[in-house]
Amino acid sequence: MKALILAGGFATRLRPLSCARPKTLFPIVNKPLLQWIFEGLAENGVTEAILAVNALTQFHIRNQKPPKCGLKVRFSIDPPKKPLGTGGPIKKAQKLLGRKEPFIVLNGDIFADIDYKKLIETHNKNGAIATMALCCVKDPCSFGVVELQGDTIKRFVEKPPKGQEPSNLINAGAYVLSPEIFDYISKGKACSIEREVFPQLVKAGKLVGCRINGLWMDIGKPQEYLQANKTVLDTIGSTLEKPKPDGFKVSHPVAFDKGICIGEKSLIGPYAIIGKNVKIGKNVTISNSVIFPDVEISDGAIIEGAIVGEGVQVGKNAKLEKGCIVGDQSKIRDNVNLNENMSVCPAKEIA
Ligand code: GTP
Repeated sequence: MKALILAGGFATRLRPLSCARPKTLFPIVNKPLLQWIFEGLAENGVTEAILAVNALTQFHIRNQKPPKCGLKVRFSIDPPKKPLGTGGPIKKAQKLLGRKEPFIVLNGDIFADIDYKKLIETHNKNGAIATMALCCVKDPCSFGVVELQGDTIKRFVEKPPKGQEPSNLINAGAYVLSPEIFDYISKGKACSIEREVFPQLVKAGKLVGCRINGLWMDIGKPQEYLQANKTVLDTIGSTLEKPKPDGFKVSHPVAFDKGICIGEKSLIGPYAIIGKNVKIGKNVTISNSVIFPDVEISDGAIIEGAIVGEGVQVGKNAKLEKGCIVGDQSKIRDNVNLNENMSVCPAKEIA
């Protein structure tokens, strides 16, 4: 079976971190999201993944080379300066997907434990054109919300006003589609599958839903991204290699990638996810934060509830408060205090 991964969006809500990397390559507990996705697909019997990208995303993915987990990986590239949305890339990949059998389509920005086999069974049983994975959430208004009758979706409302949601069941961003879907999407044009295709399938009685029970997280916004890291750390923390503190203290759970140096009397954790080759000085405190690779943190710095981009330098006694995001390659000078929710663009120097 084949899967199409939508990964050519601009991730505007994740700026400034997404200025230099596509959402699908954001690390979740030190492993690119795309690698988690590949693993999930391979475990469910998928043999080929097609990445629907733009030219820049393709460049980043080729450069980073996340492990393919045994999948054959191909690219389908949106036309230059003409993003195709969430529907157009499906039509664009028609030749690669073929017309012989159903295929999987999923958003490249969700971390989810999806039972694709169950999704395919539900699809085949109902003779649907599209079968949508559904997830139950407390506050559904910022998602596509469904009204379900049996397995059939009777209503699909994209981002309904708060209080007017038909249920708590939302579009989890993963579908099984039959080749008839190609007839619902125009060639070479941008199209939103949520707003333009699903309502037509509802009318035709050909949109089916299948609840998923495992972990499901959208990483579209910085706080969601941070929370996804913490949740995954909670789930897999006990399986990770335990760091051996040498003069510094660790408060679990933490995740350490390779090549990390930490100075005396530093306190790391809880919920500190530290990327490859990060250098941490003495008396540093880090908690509830994601630190991307190659960051240097000087003596006495305090980082609590922040996301620190690749190659950032944090000066002595600097403080990054809750909700701060520092773009790649920035320099935060000695004694600088970044108050709650401040964002720093890439390659800036803050003195
Ligand atoms: P925001 O700008 O923050 O809304 O993010 P986004 O547009 O990148 O993501 P959104 O949640 O709107 O899209 C869902 C999925 O579809 C993501 O995995 C995107 O990468 C992907 N996607 C969105 N637009 C396009 C597009 O024009 N082309 C392709 N190939 N994929 C897209």
